[in-house]
Amino acid sequence: MTMAAKHFENKTALITGGSRGIGLAVAREMSKRGTRCAIAARGAERLERARASLAADGFDVLTIQTDVSDAESCANMVARAVEEFGRLDILVNNAGVSMRATLDELDAEACRSMVDINLMGCIYPTLSALDQLKKNKGSVVFTSSIAGLIGLPTATIYCATKHALRGFADALRCEIGPCGAHVGVVYVGFTENDPEKKVVSASGGAVPPGPAHMTQEEVAREFAELIRKRRSRAVLSPIGKLAEFAGRLSPDIVGEAIVFSRKTKLNERLGIT
Ligand SMILES: NC(=O)c1ccc[n+]([C@@H]2O[C@H](COP(=O)([O-])OP(=O)(O)OC[C@H]3O[C@@H](n4cnc5c(N)ncnc54)[C@H](OP(=O)(O)O)[C@@H]3O)[C@@H](O)[C@H]2O)c1
Repeated sequence: MTMAAKHFENKTALITGGSRGIGLAVAREMSKRGTRCAIAARGAERLERARASLAADGFDVLTIQTDVSDAESCANMVARAVEEFGRLDILVNNAGVSMRATLDELDAEACRSMVDINLMGCIYPTLSALDQLKKNKGSVVFTSSIAGLIGLPTATIYCATKHALRGFADALRCEIGPCGAHVGVVYVGFTENDPEKKVVSASGGAVPPGPAHMTQEEVAREFAELIRKRRSRAVLSPIGKLAEFAGRLSPDIVGEAIVFSRKTKLNERLGIT
């Protein structure tokens, strides 16, 4: 067994949003490395299909039907994983929803719902898992985005939730880092999408998802390496790294560049909507 795999041997992990897309790829990657995984999502049928596809590869995972926007549902999710595994070492807060709409197209309920899933849906599981993470010197990981590094038009609330994860993680690291726990944030770039992924418009309809610059498997390996090396952050994809650099340099320049690219349709030529 390699050093890389050894870190995950006999560990247990809970991955929210693990029924498809990046979450399912993370569950597969961690399982491959010897971790016992639980995956959580709302849809029971999709969860079962994810379980069966992992089982076909020889990986036995626990499925837990959960709505991460509900505190009680999250408490039950963590309790179920601990009951089954006896302990919890790794929590990957990955469940999230995407929306493409300008702020003036949204009402208060649409904004609240996204905050409930993308932000509270990471806070509730972490709160419930805190004792386990401290006791086991575990890892908690948050799935942010390029939208957590810079502001993107038609993604005001999404950007707000993904930026907020950084603040939450950085503060939490100060609190539980001294206990030996690890807190990491992955800033995911444009990644291939599951055919079932739905990016919603203001009216609730579906809009085409963005371009893909990385595969889900590549992204999953980055999650595993961040956990293994106990790194605080990983910024994925060339566009993500550029966004981080430019955002640090000047948010004004980034904003002007984005407005320019939309005006000149450069974004469409690059496949970025
Ligand atoms: N794909 C990209 O290009 C990209 C880029 C940057 C960041 N990200 C972030 O990466 C994460 C995963 O994205 P993805 O592309 O893999 O998305 P996805 O294919 O839409 O998968 C989302 C997962 O989250 C679950 N989920 C959604 N709402 C939930 C809720 N309230 N409670 C529990 N589970 C919930 C979904 O299952 P149910 O609907 O059945 O609950 C599904 O398992 C998200 O946080 C996203 O913001 C993705």
